[in-house]
Amino acid sequence: MAPSPLIAPSILASDFSRLGEEMRAVESAGADWIHLDIMDGHFVPNITFGPPVIAALRPLSDKFFDVHLMIAPTDAYLEAFAEAGADGMTVHAEAGPHLHRSLQAIRGLGKKAGVAINPATPVEALSYVLDDIDLVLVMSVNPGFGGQAFIPASIEKIRQVRLLIEGRPIHIEVDGGITPDTAEAVVRAGADVLVAGSAVFKGGPEAYARNIEAIRGGTQFA
Ligand code: DX5
Ligand code: ZN
Repeated sequence: MAPSPLIAPSILASDFSRLGEEMRAVESAGADWIHLDIMDGHFVPNITFGPPVIAALRPLSDKFFDVHLMIAPTDAYLEAFAEAGADGMTVHAEAGPHLHRSLQAIRGLGKKAGVAINPATPVEALSYVLDDIDLVLVMSVNPGFGGQAFIPASIEKIRQVRLLIEGRPIHIEVDGGITPDTAEAVVRAGADVLVAGSAVFKGGPEAYARNIEAIRGGTQFA
């Protein structure tokens, strides 16, 4: 039986008028990490929030703040996100020409370093940074919006990432379209952190624990 994956609710799908309460509600409902989606209207066609919002949430939670940076350029903002309370920062391989420098900067700030790859980006983009990362984020939708349909080719890509990392202590996270129906296949392929927005926050706070359990339940196979 595969170990139960970590569940990282994306607060992008929460009620922003009650952000702090929403984050605490998913924590009590069983969230392992909190996934924070940062979008700049340039790297992706949507804008969300920045370091001040993370700083406001930080005192309310001891959970790992998993900050997904969908921004370009990246490096000039890493320190601000670190100071705001990020525990890990994930940069996109497509966001600029100096991925290795960004990863060094994240580790230099004492934070966990992640690389995200878009659906069209081959896993080879990771080949020469494997000793500089703590996490690979396989995007299973095109980044920018919640609520999109899971791209099935992501499953084979997760398998390839699992082979590529060759036993290194690197998390494989998957983000986009994760539901109780898609969770099992990505965990079987090798993912150990599942980001979920819509599938966690649907139905309001009374449903969060049930929603998280339903995603985990999909991964409890023999
Ligand atoms: C998409 C974001 C995701 C998004 C996932 O660009 O990176 O984290 O919130 O949302 P769902 O789970 O609804 O696909
Ligand atoms: Zn994300």
